[in-house]
Amino acid sequence: MIIAPSLLAADFARFGHDANRADRAGAEWLHLDIMDGHFVPNISFGPQLVRAVRPHFRRVLDVHLMCSKPEPLFQAFVDAGADRLTTHVELGNQVTPLLWKIRSLGRKVGLAINPPTLISQVRPYLDQVDLILVMTVNPGFGGQPFIEECVPKIQQVAAWRRQLGLDFRIEVDGGINDETAAECARAGADTFVAGTSLFRHRNLKLAVQRMRRVAAAAAPKG
Ligand code: DX5
Ligand code: ZN
Repeated sequence: MIIAPSLLAADFARFGHDANRADRAGAEWLHLDIMDGHFVPNISFGPQLVRAVRPHFRRVLDVHLMCSKPEPLFQAFVDAGADRLTTHVELGNQVTPLLWKIRSLGRKVGLAINPPTLISQVRPYLDQVDLILVMTVNPGFGGQPFIEECVPKIQQVAAWRRQLGLDFRIEVDGGINDETAAECARAGADTFVAGTSLFRHRNLKLAVQRMRRVAAAAAPKG
């Protein structure tokens, strides 16, 4: 099980400090939400922020691109230290070249899907990705409530993964806390993005350990 605190929920006046907190808390990944104000109605941060937090987080920087035209940004994020780049299936005929470009830059490839989008949309790409990100809120803001209707989408992607003998990770993102993490783990998720539910704790390490423990306990055995 991988826990990925989302920096969107961090103190915007102290990103390095909170990235270091996540590092000391033992989080395997740090999730960085890049918002362009067009694909989603919000603007967050860009490559410079990734570069700034890189020295403060030793493990994986998981960059989630909520951007309508992400390709011109890929090199800047790679140069800034991003380990994984995730783009959205809602970008339609851009998706195949985008996945290829991320791969050609030597980074792990992720494909995200929004709540209203039919899960069948990701089916053609499953053998081209290292991760499927099932959004459990409509992207753009932290602190939103978990959308239960997304759980069957996790189950479907997990079933395809088994049937096809693939090993991409299944990440969930939005409204994830101990309870919803367990529910998503039962459905087949193995990577958990959480912002509000983690960063609000003074002891981030205990919060990360607890979420990892409940997700592992809930995951199907075998
Ligand atoms: C939303 C982002 C999420 C968000 C999660 O667009 O993709 O990563 O930061 O935040 P919480 O955990 O607060 O719902
Ligand atoms: Zn995200």
